[in-house]
Amino acid sequence: MKGIILAGGLGTRLYPTTQVVNKHLLPIYNKPMIYYPLSTLMLMDIKEILIICNREDLEIYRNLFWDGSKLGITISYIIQEKPKGLAEGLTLAKDFVKGDEVCLILGDNIFFGHALPDLLTQTRQELEKDGGAIVFAYWVNDPEKYGVIVLDEKENVLSLKEKPKYPKSNWAITGLYFYDSKAGGIAQNIRPSNRGELEITSVNKAYLKRGKLKVKLLGRGFAWFDAGTHDNFLEVSDFIATIERKTGLLIGCIEEIAYRKRWMNKDQLMKLAHPLKKTSYGTYLLKIAEGKER
Ligand code: DAU
Repeated sequence: MKGIILAGGLGTRLYPTTQVVNKHLLPIYNKPMIYYPLSTLMLMDIKEILIICNREDLEIYRNLFWDGSKLGITISYIIQEKPKGLAEGLTLAKDFVKGDEVCLILGDNIFFGHALPDLLTQTRQELEKDGGAIVFAYWVNDPEKYGVIVLDEKENVLSLKEKPKYPKSNWAITGLYFYDSKAGGIAQNIRPSNRGELEITSVNKAYLKRGKLKVKLLGRGFAWFDAGTHDNFLEVSDFIATIERKTGLLIGCIEEIAYRKRWMNKDQLMKLAHPLKKTSYGTYLLKIAEGKER
């Protein structure tokens, strides 16, 4: 399975902050936002990753991650010329995906919870075995802001709607989607919605129509954030800071994940940590390398 991070868009809800800096490069507490979705993919052992970004941000992302080899993974990049909608990501990624399964994650989505890596890995395996599409849903207070999914009592999907005015359920569809190799072709054939966007919900609806859409519910033990507004930034940063201060363990630390998965050795981790040693992030990496953390 390959991974795609959607890190384009204009971030207009965050102007003036995002007028010259892409949203996914802004910090969520102590690291760039994009570290979190990248770590989510890494936690399920996805090592071939495509970042889709705006033309003007390409060099910045390249400077941040290079080709991914420092983390023991492969990162490539594709430009989205205009934010035409999330589904366009699947079309743009067709050559990268090349008939493989894919996990698409939105660059502003942050997931946290006990045994999340296990759940993600199981989902990946299930998709690789059965095909189709799998999405995650999370119970929210403000479903009208999201894609909303309606389920029957056996948790079969009945319907989906993007940002409904009158939501029929409180289950928001999160920005983490698992697809079989048909997704690129499906995305290519969808039309823009009333708001003029190529909606990922239209792709999911196509899978539903074929009887191939499954949903997994993220229960109360999970936290899910979509960081689209200034208040969201504060909220998520507070959440991350609270847990990190309490435990002394970092969330979304991509170097730590790569090291613990043995995608890099101690010397490589030390080398990455060294230039950061005056920061708490660098000190943390050095402690990991010296085996002084859990
Ligand atoms: O976060 C979950 C929600 O994400 C889902 O519930 C919705 O069904 C889904 O449509 C999406 O809604 P948003 O309104 O949050 O999408 P937004 O336009 O904010 O874009 C999400 C991310 O994708 C954001 O990090 C920017 C990036 N993006 C967006 C567009 C429209 C791109 O890279 N390219 C694009 O063309």
